[in-house]
Amino acid sequence: MKLLDIYAKLKKDINYIEKELERSIDVEHPMLREASLHLLKAGGKRIRPVFVLLGAKFGTYDLEQVKHVAVPLELIHMATLVHDDVIDDANTRRGQLTVRSKWDNRIAMYTGDYIFAKALNIVTKLSNPLIHQIMSKAIVQVCIGEMEQIRFFFNSEQSIRDYLLRIKRKTALLIAISCQLGAVAAGASEKAARQLYIFGYNVGMAFQVRDDLLDLFGTEKEIGKPPGNDIKQGNITIPVIFALQNEKLKPELLRELKVIQDTDGQTDVNPFLNIVRQSEGIARSEAMASKYIDKAIAALQSLPDIQAKKDLISIAHFIGNRSY
Ligand code: IPE
Ligand code: IPE
Ligand code: MG
Ligand code: MG
Repeated sequence: MKLLDIYAKLKKDINYIEKELERSIDVEHPMLREASLHLLKAGGKRIRPVFVLLGAKFGTYDLEQVKHVAVPLELIHMATLVHDDVIDDANTRRGQLTVRSKWDNRIAMYTGDYIFAKALNIVTKLSNPLIHQIMSKAIVQVCIGEMEQIRFFFNSEQSIRDYLLRIKRKTALLIAISCQLGAVAAGASEKAARQLYIFGYNVGMAFQVRDDLLDLFGTEKEIGKPPGNDIKQGNITIPVIFALQNEKLKPELLRELKVIQDTDGQTDVNPFLNIVRQSEGIARSEAMASKYIDKAIAALQSLPDIQAKKDLISIAHFIGNRSY
């Protein structure tokens, strides 16, 4: 099933969230408004708010309540993207110029902060302190994850564990809490919220593994930005970590990696990618993603068989094979 087919059933509510997103970043200051709207209007999958809505279906679904977590979670995600593109020197996102590229890094820093602040402001509509705690803890973890990514740039000795911990922090936790907080905001049982968190964590891990595969081997049309940016930056991701475990290919890979590092990424990375292609790196990464998807789906087993559960399973399958 395509993502759009799943979204079609939630169309009315998603459209409402979309309007609320736009409303939330409306502001008097022209540059903050323009830069934030630029990213918002570029689109994106809106997977986090969709997870919030679906999570809420396990409780008493009330869009007026649940929007107070759905909107902030997409905003928090957007803020991290604006900041992430500064860290990654990325010029394109969602098929458009990044904020840092259309304006500059300084403007991107404040645009990200501004979007963050707007997110916090909306969550204050909810009085349950648990929601605030869960959200702020996850944001701290995203910061740590992104810092760790910088610390590990061009480190060819890093382990699979280093990588997994990093992607848990930078990506999986925000997706996990999207599923969880939808349930919490809708007053679902503790058990449902916990199982949804486990689902989201595993889906989130698969999500980033696929993202990392796409960054290396996707096309610009698929991913809305030129591929190869991770490795040009020195961000060594799971297909490469697996490839480096191949003792025969390792010396060649290290040689190419050094060329990339010495030229600050201003080199053709295809020779490097071709070596990764010869390794087991792609197949093992794909297998890893699908193992996480299996675990995600297993986490839903004990939950009631409502339509939302079927939709979560369909989205999980989509993520396990996603090409955008
Ligand atoms: C991109 O997230 C950043 C990662 C965590 C990989 P998405 O792939 O959800 O980005 P959009 O919102 O659809 O653009
Ligand atoms: C995104 O990681 C994680 C966060 C935004 C916190 P990536 O750097 O892999 O995401 P893309 O590829 O730029 O979307
Ligand atoms: Mg990035
Ligand atoms: Mg990426």
